[in-house]
Amino acid sequence: MIENFHYNDNSLFLDSINLNDLAEQFGTPLIAISENRIKNNYNRIYNAFSRHFKNLRVNYALKANSNPAVISILRKAGCGADVANPNEAEIAMYSGISPENIMMTGNNLSLTDLKRAIEMRVNINLDDINQMNLIENDLPELLSFRINPGYGNGQFDGIKTAGPNSKFGMPVDYAIKAYKKAMEHGVKRFGIHMMAGSNNLDPEYFHKLSKIFFNDVKTINKETGINFDFIDIGGGFGVPYSNENELNVEKTAELINNSFHEIIGDLNPDAEIIIEPGRYLVADSGIALATVTDIKNYGRLIAGTDLGMNILIRPALYGAVHQIVCVNKHGDPEYKYDITGQICENTDFIGKNIDLPEISIGDILGIMNAGAYVSSMSSNYNSLSRAAEVLISDDGFHMIRRRETIHDMINNTIIPGHLL
Ligand code: LLP
Repeated sequence: MIENFHYNDNSLFLDSINLNDLAEQFGTPLIAISENRIKNNYNRIYNAFSRHFKNLRVNYALKANSNPAVISILRKAGCGADVANPNEAEIAMYSGISPENIMMTGNNLSLTDLKRAIEMRVNINLDDINQMNLIENDLPELLSFRINPGYGNGQFDGIKTAGPNSKFGMPVDYAIKAYKKAMEHGVKRFGIHMMAGSNNLDPEYFHKLSKIFFNDVKTINKETGINFDFIDIGGGFGVPYSNENELNVEKTAELINNSFHEIIGDLNPDAEIIIEPGRYLVADSGIALATVTDIKNYGRLIAGTDLGMNILIRPALYGAVHQIVCVNKHGDPEYKYDITGQICENTDFIGKNIDLPEISIGDILGIMNAGAYVSSMSSNYNSLSRAAEVLISDDGFHMIRRRETIHDMINNTIIPGHLL
């Protein structure tokens, strides 16, 4: 557990707030987020990279957690935004990030999406040459393309976003054609981008990947004569979910800087270096709180809760493991429980074989690393509400997402007159 969490007697605290009190006041399922932890995460990664790259931009990847309060913390800290589509761009702007500090990296966007992005004047990073063809008479002055460097890694297959099996980006020879065509259509300034996989904890991985990518950049430099305005190396900086060591970001930045200078430093001397962390900034700032609603003991212990795969889908989707603790008991973890929710699917396990003290109905469980890819991937399946969200700040706590009501869920539906 990171230092922001601590037990005081039998109560788990996040910063100065007793999480049992929070669960009682707001009900569960509830996600509590530490503002201080997000700021510390940002400072750690910003300091590591800015030591080497004087012209650095950190674009927070909104897909990890798009609550405007969370985005606002990172905007105040100095972040721009990485967004996947015009809706995320709108949320970034709503949270105070100006369009020139937003990079839209889409995938299979429609003409309407691309036109909206042009109108919003955000930076556009295209995933394919055909995406450019859609808007070839309307291209912005500054344009970027996403390269598939042919190599990438991630904690699970589903979160590898480059390499031969990936749907993202273009191989370097196609990218050369795309840049040349963009030049013919009057584009004046260029960027280049990759994003090769998520939740990586080994600095050597980033070293190897950056060498491959910077060699691609060099090939494009040579073939097109382009001097890049920005070079975006994506996100993918991991956090430990169980007993792994944390990512050494200092070392990671140093190794990436070595490959930069070795391979392309002199060809792109003024390029802005962009990183797009999502998970690293927010994952460990959050805990999801669930109330135990049933205990079954027919051969194995199953703890049923009010928080299921509609809120935390990562275990069902990837086989992800999240540490789970009892928030109101700090005893020895003498029992093993499978933890489930209320969803009518047998994939609805948020943890299996979890070591816990003996728990009973009414206890509060806490699921760690719930700040990234939990709320943003949640749904209303089985017509359940998503979690409410609370931000813990120096001055106490603030509700940052109200619990959905039945009205929210039926609001956009219509029963045709003849069925009334
Ligand atoms: N930039 C781009 C273009 C991306 O596609 C992503 C994530 C990021 C940045 C941020 O990556 P991060 O720093 O968070 O690794 N839902 C999965 C993660 C999928 C990540 C996809 N792209 C999960 O729950 O693990």
